[in-house]
Amino acid sequence: MSSKTSTINTLASGHSPRGAWESLDDLWRAAAPSLRARSNDIHTPLSFLFAELVLEAHPEADALVTRVAILLHDSGWSRVDASKIISEGFRGDWRTSDVRYLHEREGCNIARELLPGLGYDDDFITKVTDIIDGHDTRLEHHSIEDAIMRDADRLWRFTPTGIGLASGWFGKTPHDYRDQLESTTFAELITDRARELATAELARSVELLKLDVI
Ligand SMILES: [Fe+2]
Ligand SMILES: [Fe+2]
Repeated sequence: MSSKTSTINTLASGHSPRGAWESLDDLWRAAAPSLRARSNDIHTPLSFLFAELVLEAHPEADALVTRVAILLHDSGWSRVDASKIISEGFRGDWRTSDVRYLHEREGCNIARELLPGLGYDDDFITKVTDIIDGHDTRLEHHSIEDAIMRDADRLWRFTPTGIGLASGWFGKTPHDYRDQLESTTFAELITDRARELATAELARSVELLKLDVI
């Protein structure tokens, strides 16, 4: 990835999304118990914010579907045996481990359990679960909403918070995790806006965490 810093509006430059998004606080509260596993109560709000930053560049996308999908995408980790989340979900063939598939399936179940009571209809819920299902294990994306959710899922990892948590999950130093971000995660980003955001975030993280030094 390019090391050139960008002037794009992102967390690293002190910006929040500007869109006039409708509040999803009721859904956040309903989902909260399902977001306590694996620091998803840190990952999910940050990735939600990045989804909104990418949505600013994609007015053609259904923002509500995208925002609800990223909010619930990892809720299924709450139904995975906590002792297996790291040992099977982040080591070896982690991408195709049973717990990866399980957290996707359970995330769809949680969406089907929570969303009807908050007024979402079956058609909307299916659009959300089509994105959650396979979000880690499918190689391809099926829609712009799917693409933005996948980009947002990765973008938070370029922040100091993401490097802090994810380097521990992968058992790497922050320095070595940066290499993984640059060699693998960056190449998986789909939208141009996500690549711009990732570049700006990583430049700031390299500075703050002294990743060129230690
Ligand atoms: Fe996931
Ligand atoms: Fe995730």
